[in-house]
Amino acid sequence: MISPIKITDRVYYLGVNDRRKHLFENMWPLPQGVAYNSYLIVDEKTALIDTIECTVAADYIERIAAHLKGRKLDYLVVNHMEPDHAGMLGALVAYYPELKIVGNNKTFKILEGFFGITDNLIEVTDGGTLDLGHHKLQFVLTPWVHWPETMVTYDTTEQILFSADAFGSFGTLDGGIFDDEINFDFYESEMRRYYSNIVGKYSGMVQKALTKLKGTPVRIICSTHGPIWRSESSKVINLYDKWSRHESDPGVVVAFASMYGHTEQMADYVARRLAEQGVRDIRVFDVSKTHVSFLINEIWKYKGLILGSCAYNSEMHPMMSQLCNELLHISIKNKELGIFGSSSWNGAGSKALQAFAEASKLPLVAPVAEAQGKLTPDKAAAYDALAVAMAGKIQGGN
Ligand code: FEO
Repeated sequence: MISPIKITDRVYYLGVNDRRKHLFENMWPLPQGVAYNSYLIVDEKTALIDTIECTVAADYIERIAAHLKGRKLDYLVVNHMEPDHAGMLGALVAYYPELKIVGNNKTFKILEGFFGITDNLIEVTDGGTLDLGHHKLQFVLTPWVHWPETMVTYDTTEQILFSADAFGSFGTLDGGIFDDEINFDFYESEMRRYYSNIVGKYSGMVQKALTKLKGTPVRIICSTHGPIWRSESSKVINLYDKWSRHESDPGVVVAFASMYGHTEQMADYVARRLAEQGVRDIRVFDVSKTHVSFLINEIWKYKGLILGSCAYNSEMHPMMSQLCNELLHISIKNKELGIFGSSSWNGAGSKALQAFAEASKLPLVAPVAEAQGKLTPDKAAAYDALAVAMAGKIQGGN
C-alpha cells in the first residue's frame, strides 16, 4: 500500500511499474522495465489524464476510486490511444458509465476500433479548453508524437504539461518518481533508447510540437513514461530538442556481423585505428549479440557509424540486414556512414551495405573497405583509409 502521491494540491500520480513484460510493443527489450503514468485531477470536476496498460495493476480502478473518495470521475482525457496508456479505458467506462471521454477527431476513430465506444465523447480541437473549476486545461494537438491522434494537455493554472509519450523513458520508477528524487544517470540512456526506438522516426513532428509549445511556461512535465520533471523541466526539453534535431556526439559506432571472426577482426582493426586518430568514444557491437534496440540507441547518440558484414550467400549477414532495415524504418539521419566487408568467394556483404547507404541517403565516407579472408597487412590500406577519413569527419564537428 503506497500513500497518495501528490504532484500539486489537487493533482495525483497514479502510475504503475511493469517489471514483467519482456518486450515493449512486442519488440523492444525491457531489461529495466517500464512505467505507465496516469494522472488524476480532483477539482470541482474530476479528470483522469490517460490510463495504463491493462495487464499491470488489477487494483488501478480501486486506486482511482480511493482518491476520489466517493465522487464520480467526470472526464477521461485521452492524450494517446496506444494501449500502453488506453489499456484500461474499457474497464473504466464500465465502472463509470457516465464518464465523458475527451479527445480529438482522430482519437475517436481509434477508440471505436479498439473499444467500440461511440458515446459520451467530447471532441476538442487544437487550443480547445476544458474548465475543471480551479484548473483550466488546454489541449494542443501534437500529431505523430507518437501516433496521429497524439495530443498534450496543458494545465494553465499550475503550468503542468501532460505530455503523453513525449519526454518519456524506459525504466521503472523505483521509489523515486520526481526528477529530484532520482539519479538521472540511470535514466538518460533509457530515455534516449525510448526516444530513438519509439518516437525518433517522427523527429520532424517533435520539432513542430516543440515550436508550438515554445513560449508556454512549463513548470512540471508529466509524461506517460519515466520520471515527472518538476525541478529541471528544461533539461529534458533540451534533450528532446537535441535528439529531434539529430544532433549527435563526436563518437563512432562500429557494428559488425561476423560468422567465423574475420569481420570481427576487421571491426577491431578499424576501431583501433580510430582511437589512434584521436576518436575517444568508440563502441564496437556484434549485431548478432546486441539487440537492435540498443544498437539504435547508440547509433542515435554518435555521429559516426561504420557497418561491416561478411557475405552471407549472396547478401549481407541477415542480422546486419535486420539492423539496416530498422535504420531505414526509423529514417536515420545525420550520420557519417562507413562500410567494410569480408568475403570468402564474393563481396556480397559490402555490396549490400552500399545499397543500404544509397537507400538511407547517409553520406558515405570513402573508401569502402573489402578484403578476402582474414585481414593481413597487405590488405589493410583501405581499412586504414576508412578510419582516417571517418575520424576526420567526426573531429570536423557536428
Ligand atoms: Fe507509450 Fe505510444 O505509447
